Amino acid sequence: MNNNNVVEISDNIFFIGVFDSEIRTFDIIMKTANGSSYNAYLIKTSEGIIVVDGVKIEFQEEYFRKLEQLCQYDEIKYVISHHLEPDHAGSIPELIKRCTSAKVLVSPQAANMLKALVKSESINFETVWTNKSITLGEKTVQFLTTPYLHWPETMSSYVVENKLLFSGDVFGSHYCDERLFEEQVGDFSYAFSYYYDHIMRPFKSYVQNAIKLYEKLTIDLIAPLHGPILNHHPQKYIQLYKKYSEPTHKSHKVLSIFYLTSYKNTRNMAQKIYEGCESVEGIVANVYDLASLDEQNMIKILDESDGILIGTPTINGDAPKPVWDLLCCMMFLEKKGKIAQAFGSYGWSGEAIDMIIDRLKFLHFKVPPMNLLKIKLIPTKEELQECFDFGVEFCEILNGKMIEITMTSNN
Ligand SMILES: Cc1cc2nc3c(=O)[nH]c(=O)nc-3n(C[C@H](O)[C@H](O)[C@H](O)COP(=O)(O)O)c2cc1C
Ligand SMILES: [Fe+2]
Ligand SMILES: [Fe+2]
Repeated sequence: MNNNNVVEISDNIFFIGVFDSEIRTFDIIMKTANGSSYNAYLIKTSEGIIVVDGVKIEFQEEYFRKLEQLCQYDEIKYVISHHLEPDHAGSIPELIKRCTSAKVLVSPQAANMLKALVKSESINFETVWTNKSITLGEKTVQFLTTPYLHWPETMSSYVVENKLLFSGDVFGSHYCDERLFEEQVGDFSYAFSYYYDHIMRPFKSYVQNAIKLYEKLTIDLIAPLHGPILNHHPQKYIQLYKKYSEPTHKSHKVLSIFYLTSYKNTRNMAQKIYEGCESVEGIVANVYDLASLDEQNMIKILDESDGILIGTPTINGDAPKPVWDLLCCMMFLEKKGKIAQAFGSYGWSGEAIDMIIDRLKFLHFKVPPMNLLKIKLIPTKEELQECFDFGVEFCEILNGKMIEITMTSNN
C-alpha cells in the first residue's frame, strides 16, 4: 500500500491513519517490536464529512494529505475525538484551525482537556454520550460512553448503516502492518493481548461495562485506534475482552504472602502468618519469596489475589528493590476490592514497613487498621505467635469481618 493511499474500509468510510514502523517503546511501559499505527477515519456523506480522530503530531502532514484526497476542509461538518491522548489528538488543534465550520464532538469528561489541548476557550464543540447521536446525510453515528478505557474521557461510537464500531483504544494492538485488515496482516494475537494487559487490565470493570454496551449492537466491523481493523471476526475480539476482564468465580479468597529476607527473620514471620491464615476457613494462602519471582509472575499472582501481605526487612533505611518492584506491578492491575498489609523484621529503625504501608494506601488498597507487625531482629516464640494471630485477623477481615474503624486508603 502506498503510504498516501486512503483505503475505503466500509461503504464511504475511509482509513486516513498513519503507520509508525519506527516506534519501539510506547507510553514508556510497552515494547512495540514492529511499531504501531495511529488509526483515523473519515466518513463521507452527501451532506458533508465527518472526521474521526487524529494522529500523533509528528505524522500530521501525512494525515492531512490523506484527508485532502477525500474532501475540502470546508466540507467537514463534524470532528469526532474519541480519546485525547496525544497519539490521537496531536493533529486535532491544527485540524480545528483548518476546518473552522466543523463542530468537535467529545465526551463531557473531555471538554476541559480539549480546551487545554487547543489552548483556547472558544472551540466549536459539543459533548456527547450514550443515547446521543448525530445524523449527517446517509450516516447516523451513535455515541457510547466508555470512560477509563483507558483515560477518563474515552468514548466509542457506532455507525448504524455500516454496523461499524469505532472503539477508541479498546481492541487496539501496537502492531504495524500496512495490509491493515485482520485477515491480511500477520499474526497479531500477541500484540492484541499484550495491549490489553498493559492498557486495559487496570480498568477491568470499565471493560465489562463497555462490553455490555457493545453487545447490544450488531457489529460487522471494529475500527480501533491502533493496529488491524477487525473486519472478519469482530465478535471474537469482543469475547476475548470479555474473557480477559471477567472476575474469576472462586469458592474461596486468595491470599498471597510475599516476602524478602536476608537472615530468614522476615521469612520465619511469613511462615507463621501463613499458618495463621491457613487456620481460617475459606482462605487459600500462598507464600512467595520475592528474590525468585519475575515480573510477569508477580502480575499474575497479584491479579488473582484478594488479599496481599508484603514482608520486608529494612535495609539501609528502605525496603529493598524487589519489594518496590512488586508494588510497581500494581500499575497494570485493578486495585479495587483488594486488601493489603505489610510486616517485617528490622534492626534499629524499621521504616521499610511504614513506607510499604504508605505506598499501599496511595495505590488505593484497603489497608485494615491492625497493629503494626514490626519485629526487632529474630522473632521470639511470643512474637511468632503474634505473627500467627496477625494472619488469622487479616484473613477474618478478608472474609468480611466488620472492623470498628473504617479501613484507610487515600481514595
Ligand atoms: C546491609 C544492611 C542494612 C541494614 N539497614 C537497616 C536499617 O537501615 N534499619 C533497620 O532497622 N535495620 C537495618 N538492617 C537490619 C535488618 O533489617 C535486620 O537484620 C532484619 O532482621 C533482617 O531481616 P531478614 O532476616 O528478614 O532479612 C540492615 C541490615 C543489613 C544487612
Ligand atoms: Fe490511549
Ligand atoms: Fe492510543
